[in-house]
Parts: sequence; structure tokens; C-alpha cells
Amino acid sequence: MKRISLTQYLVEQQREHGRIPAELRLLIEIVARACKTIAIAVNKGALGDVLGSAETENVQGEVQKKLDIISNEVLIEANEWGGHLAAMASEEMDTIHVVPHRYPQGEYLLLFDPLDGSSNIDVNVSIGTIFSVLRKVGHHHGRVDEITEEDFLQPGRAQAAAGYCVYGPQTTLVLTVGEGVAVFTLNRETGSWMLTADQVQIPADTQEFAVNMSNLRHWAPPVRRYIDECLAGKDGPRGKDFNMRWVASMVADVHRILTRGGVFLYPWDQREPHKPGKLRLMYEANPMAFLVEQAGGSATNGSQRILDIVPGTLHERVSVMLGSKNEVQRVTGYHAD
Ligand code: AHG
Ligand code: MN
Ligand code: MN
Repeated sequence: MKRISLTQYLVEQQREHGRIPAELRLLIEIVARACKTIAIAVNKGALGDVLGSAETENVQGEVQKKLDIISNEVLIEANEWGGHLAAMASEEMDTIHVVPHRYPQGEYLLLFDPLDGSSNIDVNVSIGTIFSVLRKVGHHHGRVDEITEEDFLQPGRAQAAAGYCVYGPQTTLVLTVGEGVAVFTLNRETGSWMLTADQVQIPADTQEFAVNMSNLRHWAPPVRRYIDECLAGKDGPRGKDFNMRWVASMVADVHRILTRGGVFLYPWDQREPHKPGKLRLMYEANPMAFLVEQAGGSATNGSQRILDIVPGTLHERVSVMLGSKNEVQRVTGYHAD
């Protein structure tokens, strides 16, 4: 089988399907290149002095790891000069980063979780990068200083592209431009991303769930009911046994679901009742929801489609239930009961 590269895939999308403008193609290539740089740093581990804490905190009050900061810098530096972006936003930055005046300003907005699964860095378990692309809307007349946080507050369904990279046994880039989901594997000898799966589909049914079970006692009744029924197995109301997986890197858990199905939950819980959930809407839930829907799955917060939520703030959190359609519908239905 003749494999095609990410570049060829994007050129074909642009040429044959008219899906993507040249600027978006450049943007995706640059993000993919930045992910390669991050993959190299991840790979060096202790030898590259990239493990451990940076002893600083991000805007969400989480202690930053060295790799959180390195990855954030790599993504910013890679994306500043291309002329394709107006501004960027990241888990690791309090507010937006507007493209400096010395560079031309483009039409797109980029959001990212530079390093997802930070608790897994030091223990050599899969981690990743998540990204989401929006268009600049409104009337800006090309003046850089007019871009504000408000320009980012668009619902996930407005995304022009989204994806993630998994730094695992293989380095894989998963991408949607709204025409299905494609998977690229990094060939380390040539440095090219090669298409290894296209039009990925998540099976509608599954016998595998992903949730941090240690939080069980804090969940709301509909989530407890759903998991209790899974745990009851063959003898319970579901009439089948379920298996459980929890990597604690959303990228790795979602990648497994895209590969073989499953349902992922990070629900609201009463530890911090004022927070809608742990995961962040704009650079974790939205890009993943876009990918999952493009692969035939569903993504909700228990009562609403994730992609329809209109964000109020950049770092807003959300309850997340995504993956195999019938399971997501079931647990969402329990919330309505
Ligand atoms: P991040 O490392 O970007 O802060 O994200 C971690 C997230 C997500 O990747 C994962 O699903 C979840 O946190 C794990 O949380 P628990 O440690 O509570 O299980
Ligand atoms: Mn994350
Ligand atoms: Mn992160």
C-alpha cells in the first residue's frame, strides 16, 4: 500500500475537496511540526532535563511541569511568524497571546493544551498535545490590538479544525478538518507524518468505560447509576460485562476510544461543586468532541451537546461524557430522568 504524507493529505483536501484554505493548511503543518519538536523533548526524558516540576503555577492553580512550559513555548514560537494566526490561547497562559506586530496577522485563532496528561510525564506513560482552530469573526480591519479574549468565545461547532498528538509507543497525530478523522503516524527516520488510518469510526456500542473510579462517592446520581449498572455486568440491567481503562491522559483515553470504541467520563463532582467539571471546554473538551462526532460518536456534558456550549470565559471547565454513541446517549438520558 502506498502511504501518503500529511502534506499530501492536506494538499488533496485543499485541491479536491475544497475543504481547506492555504492558510489553514499552513497552520496544521506548523502545529504538526511543533508536535514533532515536543515529541523529541518528551523522548529525551531525564537525559534532556525535561522531567519534574517547574515550581510555577498556571492560571488554574495547577503546578506546572517543565514539559508544560517547554511545550507551550514550542507551540507559540512555531506559530507566531507564519501569518496564518491572529492570536493563540493556552492552558498555560492566563490570557490570549496576540501575534506580535512585527508579523502579519492571519484569519485564525489557535487554542491548545500544550501537554495533556502532565501527571504521566515523569512515569513514562503516554501524554499528548490537544489543539483547536477557530476563525476570527467580527470586524477587525486587520488591527492587531483589537483581538480580545472575547473573539475566542465561540461554541465548539465553529471549529475549523481540531486534533491531538499522542506521545506514546508511537507518535500519532489525529486530525479533523470537518471531513472525518484521519490518523498520521510519525516516521522517525524520515521525519514525516504518514497517513495510517482515514475516516475513523467509533463503534456505537461498547463494553469498555474510562472514568476515575476513585471519585465515585462524589458523583451525581445519574453518573453513579450509569457506572453501577456497568459494574453489575452480566447479572445487572445491562446484561453484559464491562471492562475499565483509565490512563489519566485524556489524549490516550480518547485515542483508545477512537481506535476500538468506549466511553469516557469526567463528570461534575461535589469535591468542588461550583466547578462544572475538571476538564477545560475550549482546548480539551471542544477539540475532542469535534473529533469524536466526526468519527460517529457523541459528546455531551450530561444535558447538552458539548459543541453547542457557548463559552463564557477562556478557561471555563465542563463536565465531559464522550465516545460510543449509544453509551453517551444512555448516560445523558439518565441525567434527564
Ligand atoms: P492536564 O495534564 O492538561 O492538566 O490534563 C489532565 C487531565 C486529563 O488529561 C485527564 O483525563 C485528567 O486530567 C486526569 O485527571 P485525574 O488525575 O483526576 O484522573
Ligand atoms: Mn489536559
Ligand atoms: Mn495540559
